[in-house]
Amino acid sequence: ALVSLRQLLDHAGEHAYGLPAFNVNNLEQMRAIMMAADKTDSPVIVQASAGARKYAGAPFLRHLILSAIEEWPHIPVVMHQDHGTSPAVCQRSIQLGFSSVMMDGSLKEDGKTPADYDYNVRVTREVVKMAHACGVSVEGEIGCLGSLETGMAGEEDGVGAEGVLDHSQLLTSVEEARQFVADTNVDALAIAVGTSHGAYKFTRPPTGDILAIDRIKEIHEALPNTHLVMHGSSSVPQEWLKIINDNGGNIGETYGVPVEQLVDAIKHGVRKINIDTDLRLASTGAIRKFMTEHPAEFDPRKYLAASMKAMEEICVARYEAFGAAGNA
Ligand code: G3H
Ligand code: 13P
Ligand code: NA
Ligand code: ZN
Repeated sequence: ALVSLRQLLDHAGEHAYGLPAFNVNNLEQMRAIMMAADKTDSPVIVQASAGARKYAGAPFLRHLILSAIEEWPHIPVVMHQDHGTSPAVCQRSIQLGFSSVMMDGSLKEDGKTPADYDYNVRVTREVVKMAHACGVSVEGEIGCLGSLETGMAGEEDGVGAEGVLDHSQLLTSVEEARQFVADTNVDALAIAVGTSHGAYKFTRPPTGDILAIDRIKEIHEALPNTHLVMHGSSSVPQEWLKIINDNGGNIGETYGVPVEQLVDAIKHGVRKINIDTDLRLASTGAIRKFMTEHPAEFDPRKYLAASMKAMEEICVARYEAFGAAGNA
């Protein structure tokens, strides 16, 4: 059944678990997520970015998610729009039937230039007014995502501030978070606590604390009724990097957020954990491996089935680690 983000995260909050929010733009990702949720009895958040809409087309994307709901009617599913760059984009998604939208007013409409506080409040309030009138949830964002190690926002294309950010921009302040929620009434709030988008988060193996756990804790205490969201939460599995590179790929040394640290963040109030890169890596690795091992095969269903299985395994692992399993 289609449910709102608020409904799912309220349940997650009451029972102290976290929900992975997986990005989708194709059939294989969608089926992998649903099969994993079915196996582990987990609720589902799937999200579509602007890039996903451009790739698959808005109607296909919408029907992809609706098809999943039809095939697995016993699983609660949030259809969420990721990183909306304007109230108009969010309005269009509400009209399309999304049950949740993100208004990312931390960046200007270009999705690159950091925006000021007043702009962020103005656009986010506008979306909250529209969305809440339709029973749709809203995620806002305060702060600039970026690695505390490199100061980089991550992805060069796609969503994320450009250039190197200074340390104060990379951590959401408690006071700003509190004021932002009071000013906008968002249901969920994405915070900057050391994560960044894409595969290139950290250049060295993350041994110590990669996340600003104390800051997460303080924001959660100041805002007990606002669900915290962490973007850029892929773990960048080293085993998949190796499979990619052993099968003709060329991805440099890089590290993500260890699953144990995501679990720690959940203990301190994070409820929605955004993951896209990990499924991309698993999918690519599985296809490369399949191609190496079966050079004569040319039925796309064969290598896409391998890709689907690899993605499903990641989804199962996250549903279990985050405590979402058993909560559908
Ligand atoms: O936040 C970024 C997500 O990983 C979506 O990426 O814009 O390439 O679809 P995308
Ligand atoms: P990753 O690039 O770490 O998977 O993050 C995805 C994300 O935050 C989508 O909004
Ligand atoms: Na931001
Ligand atoms: Zn994001």
